[in-house]
Amino acid sequence: MKTVTTLAELRAARAALDGTVGFVPTMGYLHAGHISLVQLAKQQCGAVVVSIFVNPAQFAPNEDLSAYPRDIPRDLQMLEDAGVDLVWLPTPEVMYPPGFQTWIDLETITQPLEGGMRPGHFRGVATVVAKLFNAVAPHKAYFGQKDAQQVAVIQRMVLDLNFPLEIVVGPTQREADGLALSSRNKYLNEAERAAAPVLHRALQAAQAAYAAGERNGEALRSLMQRTIEHEPLARVQYVSCAHPLTLQELDTITEGALLSLAVYFGKTRLIDNVILD
Ligand code: PAF
Repeated sequence: MKTVTTLAELRAARAALDGTVGFVPTMGYLHAGHISLVQLAKQQCGAVVVSIFVNPAQFAPNEDLSAYPRDIPRDLQMLEDAGVDLVWLPTPEVMYPPGFQTWIDLETITQPLEGGMRPGHFRGVATVVAKLFNAVAPHKAYFGQKDAQQVAVIQRMVLDLNFPLEIVVGPTQREADGLALSSRNKYLNEAERAAAPVLHRALQAAQAAYAAGERNGEALRSLMQRTIEHEPLARVQYVSCAHPLTLQELDTITEGALLSLAVYFGKTRLIDNVILD
């Protein structure tokens, strides 16, 4: 596995890769969810590139960039074990050179859900992902379904800006009790960790109601809300039943839906979602 930092090194190493190149962008502190994306990329591509960059531009003003967990030696060992070909660790100066002023702003898809709670977040995500795509020039790029709005934003950006690549979405990886894997789970104390699977239970309850014929968006939102309110340690930030592409809230489901939610356990904010086909 080759590890590079500068843009020149990345370009030289990228040019030496043969065949279909798969790319997994990350902010590090890797877990089994990231490795499942690497494995998917390895199945589908001749070479796999991973980036690790904690992107300051996607942290909202109230979020603490310095508190974001980091462990590069552990990440590199996990990527080596997973058979990655090339790892790029760009510096902030490469991604945001002095005087930087070129941003990618998607107009409406970034407004609801996570975008509503985390001002500026998707402007930072879209801009950094576009820069990573430009530099790595992959044929396929891999993202987790867990960050459903991020997937929708990046798919829209790829269409709008004609990036010549395919977005592949990997399924959410879960603990045995249903809790979606996330770097944030490590902040949960024992009681919060025991309570956190209520997110998945709420989504499953709504999924079951949909399977039984419920098509009213408000009925599904209210079912998820009530399920979570049974858990005293959980504090709901939002529950949503939205159009899977536009992310606008639905009154009636006619062409599928994205069920998503954000819930606090103490200071830890967790998100999860399922797609209704
Ligand atoms: O999902 C993430 O880890 C980040 O948002 C991404 C896509 C690497 C951009 O910084």
